[in-house]
Amino acid sequence: MPAMNKNTIMQIITTKKDLQAAVSACKAAGRTIGLVPTMGALHQGHASLVRRAVADNDVCIVSVFVNPTQFNNKEDLAKYPRNIERDAELLSSIGAQYVFAPTPEEMYSAEEMNTTFAFDFAGLDQVMEGKMRPGHFNGVVQVVSRLFYLTQPDKAYFGEKDFQQLAIIHHMVERSSMAGTFGNLQIIDCPIVREESGLALSSRNERLSAEEKQIALGISKTLFSSLKWAKSASMAEVQQRVIDTINAVDGLEVEYYEIVDQSTLLPTNTFDHAIGCVTVYCGPVRLIDNIKYA
Ligand code: PAF
Repeated sequence: MPAMNKNTIMQIITTKKDLQAAVSACKAAGRTIGLVPTMGALHQGHASLVRRAVADNDVCIVSVFVNPTQFNNKEDLAKYPRNIERDAELLSSIGAQYVFAPTPEEMYSAEEMNTTFAFDFAGLDQVMEGKMRPGHFNGVVQVVSRLFYLTQPDKAYFGEKDFQQLAIIHHMVERSSMAGTFGNLQIIDCPIVREESGLALSSRNERLSAEEKQIALGISKTLFSSLKWAKSASMAEVQQRVIDTINAVDGLEVEYYEIVDQSTLLPTNTFDHAIGCVTVYCGPVRLIDNIKYA
């Protein structure tokens, strides 16, 4: 009897010990587990991941943890939106069975908190977000591998908005020295969810005023236009036009726009299998988005 009653009251777990007990009980009953790792401040993008995990698995565990080791900027960490009550309400309404919401001290020893987690990224961390936020992906791999270890999921769900993160997580799971560590874990890529206006959903949007939200539309509008430009212009021209068009919007400033191969994240000279990844400051808020060219 693998299926768990999907109307079961959701449980909020705050310790690794209680989480592992719940996971052991699920495994003993032969239930499949879907994990959705999040940092909270949940929006409909997260909800789409959770709905998928609920539909695909007997049990859905959602972690809500603002992971300090992936922030290279203390102010960004302090300002990251947090609202566990609202998150729990949303998660319960869409059928998650467990929320894992530990404190940083529960997740890490003092030494772990203050040491960079070593990992061989095979270069995937040397571009874009990795270049701009040194150590960021070390923290991501540290927390995600720990969550995989604690929850032993059959499937784990990640959004394509953080495309480089997703590529790194695939690499982490496929890496030969880790092969077998996570069993037959499958990473499920989930498409970006956008507002009707085109703005990619992000927890950071909560920090935008209504006026800044309008301004931020310049990002997705430009990315969509670039699909047309790519039909008749070179890659360098498309890249420059995207940067210039976004920078021409008062209130937006591009940090980088890279068009790279979707697997290697390296520069490519063909639009086949290419993705354009952008980071833009809208006032003080750092927003990311991307567009696939094929
Ligand atoms: O994408 C995020 O929200 C975070 O990077 C993740 C995967 C939950 C790890 O903290």
